[in-house]
Formats: sequence, structure tokens, C-alpha cells
Amino acid sequence: MNMNEIIIKKRNGGKLTEEEIRYFVAEYTEGNIPDYQASALLMAIYFSKMDEEETFVLTDAMRTSGDVVDLSAISGIKVDKHSTGGVGDKVTLVVGPLAAACGVPIAKMSGRGLGFTGGTVDKLESIPGFKTTLEPEEFHKQVEDIGIALIGQSGHIAPADKKLYALRDVTGTVENLSLISSSIMSKKLAAGSDAIILDVKCGKGAFMESQDRAEELAGMMCKIGNAAGKRTVAVITDMNQPLGRTVGNSLEVFEAYDTLKGQGPSDITELSLHIAGIMIYLGGKAETPEEGAKKAREAMDSGAGLAKFRELISAQGGKLDMFDYHDATNSIPVADLQEEIVADRDGYVSLIDAQLIGLCSQHTGAGRKVKEDSIDPFAGVLLFKKVGDKVEKGEKLATFYSSDKDKLASAIEEAGGRDSGAEGKAFVISQEKPEIPALIKTTIGL
Ligand code: URA
Repeated sequence: MNMNEIIIKKRNGGKLTEEEIRYFVAEYTEGNIPDYQASALLMAIYFSKMDEEETFVLTDAMRTSGDVVDLSAISGIKVDKHSTGGVGDKVTLVVGPLAAACGVPIAKMSGRGLGFTGGTVDKLESIPGFKTTLEPEEFHKQVEDIGIALIGQSGHIAPADKKLYALRDVTGTVENLSLISSSIMSKKLAAGSDAIILDVKCGKGAFMESQDRAEELAGMMCKIGNAAGKRTVAVITDMNQPLGRTVGNSLEVFEAYDTLKGQGPSDITELSLHIAGIMIYLGGKAETPEEGAKKAREAMDSGAGLAKFRELISAQGGKLDMFDYHDATNSIPVADLQEEIVADRDGYVSLIDAQLIGLCSQHTGAGRKVKEDSIDPFAGVLLFKKVGDKVEKGEKLATFYSSDKDKLASAIEEAGGRDSGAEGKAFVISQEKPEIPALIKTTIGL
């Protein structure tokens, strides 16, 4: 097999054979193909595209490049959930306990934050004592005992994707349908669950800005999942403003906790009940997704979901003191330093730039700029206004929290200063009341 010929074939618009794709993935993972040749092939794929058959093979080659988790010893239909990456997206922390409380086993591996988007593992690690690594036997036993375990993804899942994703990130080759769908699905298929629900974001804070592109991506991922024998459903959801009112690790955990109490913001509550409903249906515990959503609502109203979340925290070594204090006082732990963003005019909030708010949160210390950065668990952004809300000049729009004054200053600078409202700043304020985009656009694969 000759790598140069494979690159030329794809550059000229040809279709790669299964053998060629598997050769490339295996040899690149082993370190036998240099980055410059892999980059050239990725760019050729970016421009010449891959068809469905090539995309399926690429996914499978990456799926089998490392460990393929076997969860068959755990009884029941295991359902996994994945978000393509959002700002303020703490939905996993809500739907996991709700679905588990309704009898669906959740054996989930989650990722860390990437760029301006957060990651469930970083959020969970903001709970003092919470362990995000468990030995496989402990992981299985916990799911059997309490119905849910949430851990970090092991380094041995789809190592080919890990290498290729890092290369794509620095070679302008991320935004290709086949490359994104194979990257996500190789990891999901290797993680061992029986069914998968994908939350595909669209809008300013997402990979896919337009709904059409998000639907195309979702359609391809559902085809890959179903062809591999895993029932796969995708929900297309809006990411034109952050989800909920918090961005940052501990802030988001507390918002998820309040949502499980039935006291969360309306967007997080709506999306969580929709996704949990589909999970409960896919897990065989409801006849329809609507019945699943009804069961999820009951688990929220009865406190069963909250009790499951507390059980999960305790089982993985997390301390509940902070939550007990929160229950008693309604206060949340935050970093010591804070700055406010205020409205520079009267009007209506017409945009909250999700990507910019994600970057601001990263600057406060809630996210990493480089892989080695440590996280400030109590840093982040608390929003007081959402799109469509009326504001008066001087009114508080958000508070930024950090433990480091330079980081706080750089977050405020990233937002465009303390006064917000003009185009290009974190908050845009208009004279007319804007249309509020629908949060749940469509569901594919049901
Ligand atoms: N997330 C992934 O895991 N891979 C991509 O290519 C894009 C988003």
C-alpha cells in the first residue's frame, strides 16, 4: 500500500477502498505515517468528501483502533447520550439521574472541556472528592447496584480518533461531515451502550451554524449508529445563546441539581425532559418518547431523580455537604473575585454570543487554554438575562467569577468590557423585542 497514491486518489475525487482506509488508520495510529501525509489526506477528504460507504469504514477502523468496551454483563438496555458540544450544557447531569431513576442503566463515559465548550468530567470534578476514574469492575458493579456511573473516557478508546482529531484541529480539517461523524461515532460505538441519543447543536455556539448542516450531520451519525446495530436517535437543538443561566463547572453542577429539584431554568428543564424521555423509551421503560418524558417529569416532581444524583455523587466519593448547605441556604459556592457586566442602553437582549461567553468562562479559569492548564472549579459566568428579556441601562446582565484577578480582567476584556449591548459584545441589546429561536428544532431517527 502506498500512502502517496492514496492521497492522490482522494485528491482527484476517487473513492478509497476499505483496505486503503484501514491501512491509513492503522498505520497512522502506529506512528508509521507522518503527520504531513495524514494532513494531506485529511485535506483531500475535506475537499473531495467521502461517500457513506467510506465514512462507515473510516468509523469502524477508528472504533477498533483501541479498546471496545463490553457492557453486556450489565442487565438492561444501556443508553448513551452525547452532545456535539455546547456552552452551559449540563444536560447529562440531569438526564442521567432521571433516566436511571426510571430504570434505564446509565454506564457513561464523558469527555473534558474542549476550547470554548465545557465537559461533563470537569463539571463532576468540581464536586469535592468525586472520582471520575473507576476500574472496569467497579464501574460495572456501580451500574448494577445503583443504575448509574459517570466516568471519564479512557485513553484507550479510539486512539486513532484522538491522534486524528488533534491533527484536524491544527490543519483546518475539522468541519467535514464524514470526519466529524466518524470521529464522534467511533467513540460512541466503542463505549459499549446498546442505544445512543445525540444532541446535535446548531447556531452561533456550535460547529454547525445552520440547521440544515446540523440535520445532515445528525442524519449521517444516525445511519452509522443504526448500521452498527445500535439504535441511534438525534435531536437538533439551538445553541444561539448559552443553555440555562450558568457557564462554569461548579455553577453548572448546582444548576443541574436545582433542575432535578424542579427549580431549573425553563430551557434546561425542557431539553432535559425531552432527551430523558427518549432515553427512557430507547431503554425499553416507556412505550413512546412522550410516555418517557412523562415518566422523567414524574421522577423530577417526586425527587427520585435528585435522590439518584445524590446517590451517584456519594457512590463515586463526592461530598454532599455543599449540596446540603445549598438546600438549607439557597447559596452556591463561587470563586472569591467577581465583576459585573451591565447594559449600556435600554432595550431587549437580542443575542448572547454563546461562543464568546464560552471563551469568557475559559478566561476566568473555568476552562483550559492548553491541555495542561488546571481548572478553577468555582470560576465561570452567571447570566441574569436571556434572549428576549427587557433591560434598562445600567442593569446587571451577568457576573463573572474567578480566583485570579488577571484572569478576571482578561475575561471582561474578552466580553468587550463591562458595558455590553453593542454588536460584537457578549450581549447585544436591540430596540425591538427579538424572536426567540425554538430550542428543540427537530428529532431524527424515531
Ligand atoms: N467532536 C468530536 O469528538 N469530533 C469531531 O470531529 C467534532 C466534535
